[in-house]
Amino acid sequence: MRRKLIAGNWKMNGSLGALAELDAIEAAATGTPGVDVAVAVPATLINPAVERVSAVAIGAQDVHQGECGAHTGCISAVMVREVGARFSIVGHSERRADQAESDAHVKGKAEAARAAGLSVILCVGESLEDRDAGRAEQVVTDQLARSLPQGAAGEWLSVAYEPIWAIGTGRTPTVEDVAAMHGALRARLRELAGGEADAIRLLYGGSVNDANAAALLGAGDVDGALVGGASLTAAKFVPIIEAAA
Ligand code: 13P
Repeated sequence: MRRKLIAGNWKMNGSLGALAELDAIEAAATGTPGVDVAVAVPATLINPAVERVSAVAIGAQDVHQGECGAHTGCISAVMVREVGARFSIVGHSERRADQAESDAHVKGKAEAARAAGLSVILCVGESLEDRDAGRAEQVVTDQLARSLPQGAAGEWLSVAYEPIWAIGTGRTPTVEDVAAMHGALRARLRELAGGEADAIRLLYGGSVNDANAAALLGAGDVDGALVGGASLTAAKFVPIIEAAA
C-alpha cells in the first residue's frame, strides 16, 4: 500500500524566523505516523530547517543536473544532500516557465537527485489552454513520458500533478477530473515503469487547503498533496496533514 505524502513547497518565501512554523508541523508529523510529511524550503533555509526537525523531511525546490562546475547561481543535488536535504522537487511549472526548463532538463535533474541519494517529486501539469482544448491528459502523460528518470521506482520517486491554472488561483479541478488524470498517469506509468508503477506515489497540487484537502485526497489514485501557499503556516498546513491520516 502506498503511504500518503503531504509535501509543502515554500517557493521564494520564508526567513530564519519563519522556521518556527516547522515546530507545530513537526508535532503534527509525529502525531500522524501513517503520513509522510515533507517541506521544500528555499536553499538558504535547508540546513537550519534540517537542524530543527526530524519527523518532517526537508528538501530543495530544484537542483542542477550536474554535480559541480561553471554554473553561476545554481546548486547541485550533492550540495543540498550534504546539508541534510532528503528530497528535491524537480520540474515545477514555475521553473519550466521562468527558467525555460525542458522535459530533458527535468529528467536530468531527477536522475542527478537520485544519484546523490535524494528522493524526487517530479511535477507535471497542463495549461488552461490545454485543458479547454480537451487535451490535458495527452499533454500531461506525454510530459511524464519525456521527463521520467531512468530506473523510476516508488522507493524514491513521486509524481505531482499540478494543473498550472490551479496554482495559487483558488481554483481546483473537480475530484472526478483529478481522479481521471491520476488514472491516466498511473496507466502511462505502467507502460513506462512496469512493476514499479504501482509503488510510485501520485500527488495532487494546486490550491489545496484545509477545506478541500479531504475531498481531493479521497479521489482515486491520489496518494498525497503538494501544497504551496497553505504550507507557509502551521495553522493552514497541519489540517491538511490531518486530512491525510
Ligand atoms: P498553491 O498551493 O499555492 O496553489 O501552489 C501549488 C504549488 O505550486 C505547489 O508546488
